[in-house]
Amino acid sequence: MTKPTTWSDRFESALHPAIAVFNASIGFDIQLIEYDLTGSIAHAKMLAHTGIITNVEAQQLVAGLEQIRQEYRAGKFQPGIEQEDVHFAVERRLTEIVGDVGKKLHTARSRNDQVGTDIRLYLRAEIEQIRKQLQSFQSILLQKAEHNLETLIPGYTHLQRAQPLSLAHHLMAYVQMAQRDWERLGDVLKRTNISPLGCGALAGTTFPIDRHYSASLLNFDGVYENSLDGVSDRDFAIEFLCAASLIMVHLSRLSEEIILWASEEFGFITLKDNCSTGSSIMPQKKNPDVPELIRGKTGRVFGHLQGLLVIMKGLPLAYNKDLQEDKEAIFDGVTTVKACLEAMTILLAEGLEFRTPRLAAAVAEDFSNATDVADYLAAKGVPFREAYNLVGKAVKTSLAVGKLLKDLTLAEWQQLHPAFEADIYDAIAPKQVVAARNSYGGTGFQQVSQAIVTAKSRLQNNS
Ligand code: ARG
Repeated sequence: MTKPTTWSDRFESALHPAIAVFNASIGFDIQLIEYDLTGSIAHAKMLAHTGIITNVEAQQLVAGLEQIRQEYRAGKFQPGIEQEDVHFAVERRLTEIVGDVGKKLHTARSRNDQVGTDIRLYLRAEIEQIRKQLQSFQSILLQKAEHNLETLIPGYTHLQRAQPLSLAHHLMAYVQMAQRDWERLGDVLKRTNISPLGCGALAGTTFPIDRHYSASLLNFDGVYENSLDGVSDRDFAIEFLCAASLIMVHLSRLSEEIILWASEEFGFITLKDNCSTGSSIMPQKKNPDVPELIRGKTGRVFGHLQGLLVIMKGLPLAYNKDLQEDKEAIFDGVTTVKACLEAMTILLAEGLEFRTPRLAAAVAEDFSNATDVADYLAAKGVPFREAYNLVGKAVKTSLAVGKLLKDLTLAEWQQLHPAFEADIYDAIAPKQVVAARNSYGGTGFQQVSQAIVTAKSRLQNNS
C-alpha cells in the first residue's frame, strides 16, 4: 500500500486511480496558474509583513514561485493528473525548487480561499478584456453607422414591413446594447474584485494575518467581511455568466438579422468570401456560418449560467467540492463570449457589405409610408383614428389594382379626403418618411447623427 502524497498521515492508502482522475481538476484549472502564482506571492509577502515568516523566507518563496512562472511559460511545467489541482501542483514544485521553506507557503491559508482568490483574479482580467472587445465591437458599428446615415432599410415589427429606417439607426441599436453590456460588466467587476484571501478554510485563521495588506498587493478593492461567505460565494461568477448571457443574446439577435439579410429573399447584404463557407454538394451555396455559430454558441453560455445557479442552490455553508464545478462553466463562458465578440467584429468590419441599391429599392416598393399618410392628415386636423381608417382603405384599393401609395393620383387622394394637396408626394417619399421622425431617439437623420456623436464621445471617454 502506497501512502498518498497529498494528505496528512491520517491517510494510509492512496486514492483509487479512477477516483483520482474523477477528483482532479488540474486538467482545466491549470488555466489559473498565473493567478495562483500571483496570489501566492502576495500571500508570502503578507506572511513576512506580519512576521509570520521571515523576510528571507518570503524572498525564497517569491523567487521559487517566479521560477515556476518562467517554467510554465517556457512549457517546462506540465503537472499531471497525480497533482490533483493547480494549487497542489504549484506548492509541490515550489518545495522541489526551494526546499523545506516551500512547505511554509500554505501557513494561514486554505485551498478554499486560495481558489476563490484565483478565480476572482482570473475573471477580473477576463472581464477587462471582454469590455475592451465590446468597445471594438461598438467602434466598428459606429463606423458603419457613420457611412450609412442616409442609407435606408426597411424596419419591421412582427417581421412585417413597418416603417423605413436609417440603416445607421438600426446599427446604433446594437451600439446601445453593447454599451449596457459594457456597463453591466463594470458593475460585475465591483463585486468580483473583493478578496477572500485569508478567510482560511472557512473560519479565518489563528495567525495574525493582514488581509487588507494581501488584498492591496493584489489590487483588490476590498476584502470579504465574513470568512464563510468569502470562501463559498460565487455570486460574482453567476453575475458574470448572466452578463455574458446578455452579450450572447445581443450577438445572437444581430446574427439572426445577418442570416436573414444574407438570404435571397431579403438580399440586403452580401457575405464576403473571407467570412462565409460553401456547401460540399451545392455549388451555388454561400453559407453564413459565422453568425449561425454565434447564434448556436449562445445556448452554451445560457447553460453555464443555469448550471452554476443549480450548483449553488443547495449548498450548505461553506466550501463543498461541488464548487470545483464552477470552473469549466466560467472558463467556457469566457472563451465563448470572447470568440463570438471577435468573430462578429471581424464579420462586420470585413465580412459583409450592404447592398444599398437593393435596400433603396426595398423601401421604395412597399406600404411602409402608410403611417405617414395618416400623420399627414392628422397634422391637418383630421382625428388620427379617422385618418388611419381612410389610409387603410387606400392601401386596400391600391393593393387590389397593384399600385403603391405613391402611384395614386392627386384626384384619387382628394377623393379619399379633401385635405390632400400636392405635397403628399414629398411627405411619403422614403427619405422624407425617415427624416420626419425627428423625435428624440427616433430614426430621423438629425437624431441619428446626434446619437452617433454622443456614442463616439462616450466610447472615447471610456477607453
Ligand atoms: N480544486 C478545488 C476547487 O477547484 C480547490 C479547492 C479544494 N478544497 C477542498 N477543500 N477540497 O474547488
